[in-house]
Amino acid sequence: DRPMDVATYLETMDYQTSLEDKAEAVDWLEKNNRQFGHFIGGKFTSFKEEGSLEILNPSTKEPLARISSGSEADLEAAIRAAREAQPKWASLSGFERARKLYALARLIQRHARLFAVLEALDNGKPVRETRDIDIPLAARHFYHHAGWAQIAETEFADHEPVGVVGQIIPWNFPFLMLSWKIAPALALGNTVILKPAELTPLTALLFADLAVQAGLPEGVLNIVTGDGKTGSILAAHKDVNKVAFTGSTPVGRLIRQATAGSGKSLTLELGGKSPFIVFDDADLDAAVEGVVDAIWFNQGQVCCAGSRILVQESIAEDFLRRLRVRMNTLRVGHALDKTIDMGAIVSADQLARIEAMVARGVAAGADLYQPETDLPKDGFYFPPTLVSNVEPTSELAAEEIFGPVVVSMTFRTHDEAVLLANHSRYGLAASVWSESINQALEVATHLEAGVVWINGTNQLDAAVGFGGKKESGFGREGGREGCFDYLKPRIWSKNPPRKEIAVPARKDTSAVASIDRTAKLFIGGKQCRPDAPYVTPVLSSKGVMLGEVPKGNRKDIRNAVEAANKASSWGKKTTYNRSQILYYLAENLSVREEEFADRLQSLTGVSAASARKEVSLSMSRLFSYGAWADKYEGAIHLPPIQGVAMAMPEPLGVVGAICPPEAPLLAMISLMGPLIATGNRTIIVPSERYPLIATDFYSVLETSDIPAGVVNIVTGSSEELATVLAQHNDVEALWAFGSASLSKIVEANSVGNLKRSFVDYGRQIDWHNPEAGEGELYLRRATEIKNIWVPYGE
Ligand code: NAI
Repeated sequence: DRPMDVATYLETMDYQTSLEDKAEAVDWLEKNNRQFGHFIGGKFTSFKEEGSLEILNPSTKEPLARISSGSEADLEAAIRAAREAQPKWASLSGFERARKLYALARLIQRHARLFAVLEALDNGKPVRETRDIDIPLAARHFYHHAGWAQIAETEFADHEPVGVVGQIIPWNFPFLMLSWKIAPALALGNTVILKPAELTPLTALLFADLAVQAGLPEGVLNIVTGDGKTGSILAAHKDVNKVAFTGSTPVGRLIRQATAGSGKSLTLELGGKSPFIVFDDADLDAAVEGVVDAIWFNQGQVCCAGSRILVQESIAEDFLRRLRVRMNTLRVGHALDKTIDMGAIVSADQLARIEAMVARGVAAGADLYQPETDLPKDGFYFPPTLVSNVEPTSELAAEEIFGPVVVSMTFRTHDEAVLLANHSRYGLAASVWSESINQALEVATHLEAGVVWINGTNQLDAAVGFGGKKESGFGREGGREGCFDYLKPRIWSKNPPRKEIAVPARKDTSAVASIDRTAKLFIGGKQCRPDAPYVTPVLSSKGVMLGEVPKGNRKDIRNAVEAANKASSWGKKTTYNRSQILYYLAENLSVREEEFADRLQSLTGVSAASARKEVSLSMSRLFSYGAWADKYEGAIHLPPIQGVAMAMPEPLGVVGAICPPEAPLLAMISLMGPLIATGNRTIIVPSERYPLIATDFYSVLETSDIPAGVVNIVTGSSEELATVLAQHNDVEALWAFGSASLSKIVEANSVGNLKRSFVDYGRQIDWHNPEAGEGELYLRRATEIKNIWVPYGE
């Protein structure tokens, strides 16, 4: 192409094609003969033709390279290398690990241009984005986490690394996701096996070169390429201590199932359908630019893309008109062209998926607006698309499209905006546009999302945790909150396998329980009869029958969840109020200290002194959570914007808690305390062996100021009720302490709504030791951080 002469240019003012030079990236590919093995134990294995995968340039469909498909044997070797390297890596000083991460950050910066070009070639995203966003943010991640490595010994003194981590990443931000995964894992003393997406592995392979240059010890980082099969072998491998996954929700579910009960820790960063809310007092031109960044950044292949515009009815016409005008100026083209706004869709399959979804939407009556943009002839392209006339429940409005397609809907009132925004099974991110700070912050606190941007969108920083609520997954990446996902409490590593509690033979076979010896359930603030008339006898340690408790069933759990749902205002109460109520519960228990001690003694057979100690510790624990209620407060992050990000711990919602057999009063209080202190509503299943201690507690609850529905207690079989709670879609999280099989039941059954689970894999916690049985460890699991980005200045 001959450059246009200046006179003609001035006449048309058209953009010209301005391709970034790809010579260095091509040299690197050629140097590797355009074919790659895996990076295991510090070396590249040789390329294996059999089962290998072709890597295409989505901008042109030209082949770029071939990669090997990781087999079981490859993963075996990689996991072994990671396992061998882990103790030594973890025992290095923070400074020594920090220096390696720092070296990696420096090397990324030194080779930033090569990374940016290679990423654009491999993924099809504009080089303007890889150059200005993906690669600088990846370097930022390594710098930030070099910092955590440096101070980890003091900041996380009571934690230790999880061990060997399997990480599986998607194709939409290949190198950025690599950095989000690898940097925190290595910083905190773990070793890694990373599986890049099969469509976009090249920058990960280039990074392996850097790991060698940075002198990263062999085996600390391993990269095994391949498709979903390779990923599934990695996720299920018995020697992997943690799986960190980013990708689609269906695969997230498969991984939850594959790891259930294995003791692996798991974080899932999944799909989204994030609302982009425009109020009538918003700066409309700024909000239009916001939409461009929200949905046409990376061709909309962004998990936190603002893909649902909710615009206030009074300004909808004006706003959408301005948006269409702006759309007419968007340019779509080759990823290396520096003058384009949008590049290529990652693959033929992904393009076909987008086309099919949009076609179904149109058939169902949706209206499309697509500007008359020239799309390049080769490659996988889809124009920027605005969809209107859709119902909130339609496929286009409810499902993740993962393409440059945004739907728009209107709302009238502030409450309607919140309702529509939260009408999604996802809860990853949200944008709120309003010039009224009061309105924007108020809405932000009501949105069910892990990240909320006020008058902004798609802002990301290593210091600010990122991650979802609901079916968008669990765990956070970035910041202090993200570090905990790569650590485990030191004291918990010493938890012994739980001792079975022998049930004594029943002695007083004569007694048929009289009605007044049968406890009830505690639901919605009242003692109530169970759905079915079945009861279980409760024996003393000597085998004497002390009473009976109902065998709660599915219907009882349903009623309890309904009562808990109605008590949602508990989460909005002031922390002062919640702390007062916890202190008051302790006070009410203290009035009946002796009675509870006697009951514990006859139930469990412990000495009078031990029983008194358990009651006294239970009161102390309630005091602890009364104390924490107004002290577990979150943080202010200072990302590189003119503004702040407020990291606010929020309650999860309705949480089930299955109590273990040991220390029946103290353990129950230890689970209930953190959950209600942080604003959750609970359904407690008391210790199956000693439920009477919980039914005695009803009257303590009744005489306290705790609102109806905040604490519900259903007695019965731990495993049966755990299954029901795990499968209930209105239960957001489930804590279960007991047998190893209970843990497995909880994790395997919680895939439906991707519940957060907190289990002990059958290992006993020393509830008497406050270091193991109370504090921030529990408060963190009772909450999820929402980061609200608040800009300031004009
Ligand atoms: P995917 O979820 O299948 O792939 C993500 C990663 O998981 C890849 O590395 C893949 O090899 C791996 N993987 C696939 N199956 C696996 C299994 N059974 N066990 C372990 N690892 C497995 O996503 P895919 O197929 O690339 O895209 C499909 C749809 O998923 C897209 O259309 C998009 O809607 C959505 N998606 C969402 C992402 C997000 O971040 N929210 C990222 C990528 C895709």
